[in-house]
Amino acid sequence: MSIHRVFNFSSGPAVLPLPVLEEAQRNLVTLPGVGMSVLEVSHRSKPFDEILHGALSDMREIAGISDDYEILFLQGGASLQFSMVPMNLLTQGLTADYIVTGDWGKKALKEAKKVGATAVAASTEEGNFVRIPAQSELRLTPGSAYIHMTSNNTIHGTQWHHLPDVGGAPLVSDMSSDILSRPLDAAKYGLIYAGAQKNLGPSGVTVVIIRKDLLARSADALPTMLNYRVQAEHGSRYNTPPAFGIYILRLVLTWLKGLGGVAAIEKVNERKAAMLYAELDRTAFWAPHAQKNARSRMNVTFRLSSEALESQFAKEAMAAGLDGLKGHRSVGGLRASIYNAFPEEGVASLVQFMQEFERRNG
Ligand SMILES: Cc1ncc(COP(=O)(O)O)c(C=O)c1O
Repeated sequence: MSIHRVFNFSSGPAVLPLPVLEEAQRNLVTLPGVGMSVLEVSHRSKPFDEILHGALSDMREIAGISDDYEILFLQGGASLQFSMVPMNLLTQGLTADYIVTGDWGKKALKEAKKVGATAVAASTEEGNFVRIPAQSELRLTPGSAYIHMTSNNTIHGTQWHHLPDVGGAPLVSDMSSDILSRPLDAAKYGLIYAGAQKNLGPSGVTVVIIRKDLLARSADALPTMLNYRVQAEHGSRYNTPPAFGIYILRLVLTWLKGLGGVAAIEKVNERKAAMLYAELDRTAFWAPHAQKNARSRMNVTFRLSSEALESQFAKEAMAAGLDGLKGHRSVGGLRASIYNAFPEEGVASLVQFMQEFERRNG
């Protein structure tokens, strides 16, 4: 039976690799040799041990994470990390620095302020988050608890293409929308977190990678479920973990490994983004949002001359099988999210559609 799938440009939950969906479908009623669905097995059973440990070891291998780090699979989305990071790492008397490059970074800062002392090391809000700050703009607090950044700004379509030099303080990065889209120098970070629903799997599971020495900062007085140290001591199974999400995440990691890992997918991601930006740069009909040196390879944001034309674009694109191109409700415009699993032919289709749309409306 042939199935019809649209090209899904959604920013998250987002497109998953078809082989992953097919394998999950094949094995949904019973995991091979188990006689039960992954939706039914105990999270303390041998089959689930194998899934969890497989996901952890694949993550470690693909992202190049040493034994100095714990990998946790938690719930609550990246948004809960906006609170958990300061609750665990912002020790009394210290200040946490935030580099604010978009709305998600602003939200992270808002939650941290409820927990302790914060400072804005830099913000690119003036000018509507079209860029990433230069090193010379950063005002870092000496001896800060940590420095928080957002590696890819999903809403505005900007991305860091260098790492800020933060001296000795732990660097904390929200990598929700570009984790495993390119090689990662994990040793440069104190903590990395990401909601899975863009590059790793379905919503419901959040990956946290934390340097083990930082676990000592988690105070006993914290709510147990929000304590990184407790979660690490229990191998992400203090309570029932998001088992199905971890299962799909594992299939996604196996798929990525089969493609050649992050070095290979980076090349594909570069090709896809280059194809789309070339079209946006071709004529003045399109107004790309991000400054050239800050362009995201994951979320490509652009505007047209009027909101009416943008709505028409999104509507006609949807009718042509190109779904999810409307920009985030807070900024409007158009956005093509082209995460790891988004196929190259989908980008080619979008470019062709854009050229026809411009011919008709330019
Ligand atoms: C960069 C970034 N951080 C945080 C979030 C919030 O993620 P969640 O919905 O998992 O809380 C998003 C969601 O789109 C995001 O793109």
